[in-house]
Amino acid sequence: MFQIKEKIYWVGYKDWELRRFHGEEYSTHKGSSYNSYLIKDEKLALIDTVWTPFHEEFVDELDHKVGIDKIDLIVINHCEVDHAGSLAHLLERRPDIPIYCTKKGSEMMQKSYHKNWNFNVVKTGDSVELGQYKLIFVEAPMLHWPDTMLTYVQGANLLISNDPFGQHLASPHYYNDQVDQGELFYEAIKYYANIITPFNKLVKAKIKELKALNLPIDMIAPSHGIIWRDNPMQIVEKYEKWCNNYHEGSVTILYDTMWGATKKMALAIAKGLENKGVPAKVINTAKYDKNDIITEVFRSKGIIVGSSTINNGILSSMASILEMIKGLKFKEKVAAAFGSYGWSGESVKIIEGWLKDSGFELVQDGKKINWDPTGDELKECIAFGEAFGEKIKSDGSIQ
Ligand code: FEO
Repeated sequence: MFQIKEKIYWVGYKDWELRRFHGEEYSTHKGSSYNSYLIKDEKLALIDTVWTPFHEEFVDELDHKVGIDKIDLIVINHCEVDHAGSLAHLLERRPDIPIYCTKKGSEMMQKSYHKNWNFNVVKTGDSVELGQYKLIFVEAPMLHWPDTMLTYVQGANLLISNDPFGQHLASPHYYNDQVDQGELFYEAIKYYANIITPFNKLVKAKIKELKALNLPIDMIAPSHGIIWRDNPMQIVEKYEKWCNNYHEGSVTILYDTMWGATKKMALAIAKGLENKGVPAKVINTAKYDKNDIITEVFRSKGIIVGSSTINNGILSSMASILEMIKGLKFKEKVAAAFGSYGWSGESVKIIEGWLKDSGFELVQDGKKINWDPTGDELKECIAFGEAFGEKIKSDGSIQ
């Protein structure tokens, strides 16, 4: 238990060893935490729990420190197993404890956990008096699941935001001013890029709604990672930027290669971009972490994507990344395709199809090279990169 405000405690679990989250979908190079909060007011309220594998440690600690019998109510801001997974164990002894959640939350918990617990469905503006403090609920559907809500603790100026504003980061520290800022903001933008991006419009609307409520906020406590206490609105300001079809004016070259010909093309294209003052990262999709790749795509104004042709298709690492990119619904980004081939040569057309279907604007025809590129063909690749670079202004907008 770690006190974060008068009568308010972090009672979560730090998962130092976690390396994959959402099955195998999300890399967590630095672990994560499942942040649960306990308010020991006249009423004793628990906000969210921890991921299922850690239910015993979590419930034992709570029982030891406060006594499960003393809990008056539980708020579940979001029913995914990393936040509601310990409920079943927690409620074994006290199945009567009221659970405050959204309508979708109650439906989804019944489907997920097969229990008809004591659900108290709440909507935006509903509240619960605890004594000194009052909980006020704000629905936030699709940030990032249909059931998500935020809980504002009136009197403590504390917003318990669940997944939004979180980061997958295990740290000995609790607060944003105590940790390496580069590491913190990298994990925050990676989280946004990989999980929140498809819901940009909803983020924009929700932040507007929150600001209109004029709630004093001096701490934002997400359900993963570090708590924002030093200028907590800085992460809200970041989200306002990130939800606005964000880019940093950069270009990323993504490629996969069988025998190195497509790699030679990628490096020549990068030279062309550099010639135009647009330095590009060059990423082999088979050798680079997929969520870090997505973070680079998120930061880029443009991507240039290449693969050798294999069996009339593209290489599997590229197919996997293109599927992820499509699902994230990026907007206002530009792209082009390239690749080497031996005989059939479908890869460029296939990549262009993926990019178009994913909402990218193809700003030039793709570049195909038969077998290993000659010196002249590499010059053509440099020119291809230069042409793309010319289309990216120094501020990242299209010329
Ligand atoms: Fe952290 Fe959507 O669960």
